[in-house]
Amino acid sequence: MRQTRILGVGMYLPEREVTNQELEAIKELETSDEWIRQRTGILSRRFVSEGESGTDLAVHASREAIDNAGLSPDDIDFVIYATLSPDYFFPGNGCFLQDRLFADRTIGAMDVRNQCSGFIYSLAMADSLIKSGQYERILIVGSEIHSTALNFTFSGRDLSVLFGDGAGAVVVGPAPNGHPGILASALHSEGKYAKELWTEYPASAHHPRISHESLDQGRHYPQMNGRMVFKHAITRMVEVSHQVLAEAGKAVAEVDLLLPHQANMRINQMVASQLGIPEEKVVNTIAWTGNTTAATIPICMHEALKQGKLKENDLVLLTAFGAGFTWAASLLHW
Ligand code: ACO
Repeated sequence: MRQTRILGVGMYLPEREVTNQELEAIKELETSDEWIRQRTGILSRRFVSEGESGTDLAVHASREAIDNAGLSPDDIDFVIYATLSPDYFFPGNGCFLQDRLFADRTIGAMDVRNQCSGFIYSLAMADSLIKSGQYERILIVGSEIHSTALNFTFSGRDLSVLFGDGAGAVVVGPAPNGHPGILASALHSEGKYAKELWTEYPASAHHPRISHESLDQGRHYPQMNGRMVFKHAITRMVEVSHQVLAEAGKAVAEVDLLLPHQANMRINQMVASQLGIPEEKVVNTIAWTGNTTAATIPICMHEALKQGKLKENDLVLLTAFGAGFTWAASLLHW
């Protein structure tokens, strides 16, 4: 059976940088640069400007990934778009991206709704589609706009300081002869914790989907049990990393690079330490991106390439945890 390899990587962050000091200046938020820095490792994040959509960010990141793979949009035959912040309730963002990048070709486009694990879920799916021979070149993009859904008052401060907007993308295709590509992926979920990190409104489960009352109560903003998410994130990211290593018959010591989801610097430090992976083998971007959910891992890949840390054949471990709860890992040769 043929193997799947990442052929190109792209990313895009909106121009507007929002520093912790800027958030500190919002009186109702009652936060500080010191708190955000110490508890999360975040110094700044990017927010979109009026009129800029998730699809806009995805177009930039996708173009770079396709270009970086030495391909043109005509070479792509399927799109997987991971996001928790679609431009509209429906249709999915894959369709909007298809129109912007592949308007003259009716290639398939689907959305994956798996929050922070969305990129690894998408990669695992693309891997199967390539291995089965159904497609030759798949574009995977993770793109998020959080800034328009954050509550910048005291009751939302635990979440509003964490998130940023951005997009990351990769192109995958068959690995050349003998290149092992993606070795193993593992995907998990535990829906009993769905409401520990979620956005309740608008919702088809409610009649009507949104009301003046729900808006007044701020129930259209995300809600999170931070401490619980924190603990589960560390346990599950470590556990699923061991799972893919065991499935691929590899030892932790063989890992050249860990590219973890970017939710909190302290989570990543504890995951790396519990796995026994030294700091110099980990790439983090959270200091200047915040949490960009489905976009974090391809953004990390882009940064690793930029820093010269990602080399041909390196053994790379990806792991993520997020709302759902969902968590996942993938082990691959670069
Ligand atoms: N500024 C100042 N103080 C704050 C802020 C803030 N922005 N937010 C919370 N605090 C206060 C709390 O009110 C609390 O005060 P108290 O001691 O007087 O009660 C104190 O800080 C400590 O609060 P904790 O929640 O215990 O702080 P903790 O160290 O756990 O950090 C954080 C909170 C950063 C949210 C952490 O729990 C975390 O990172 N959780 C995981 C987030 C995550 O991984 N999300 C998943 C991805 S998102 C997705 O999938 C959509």
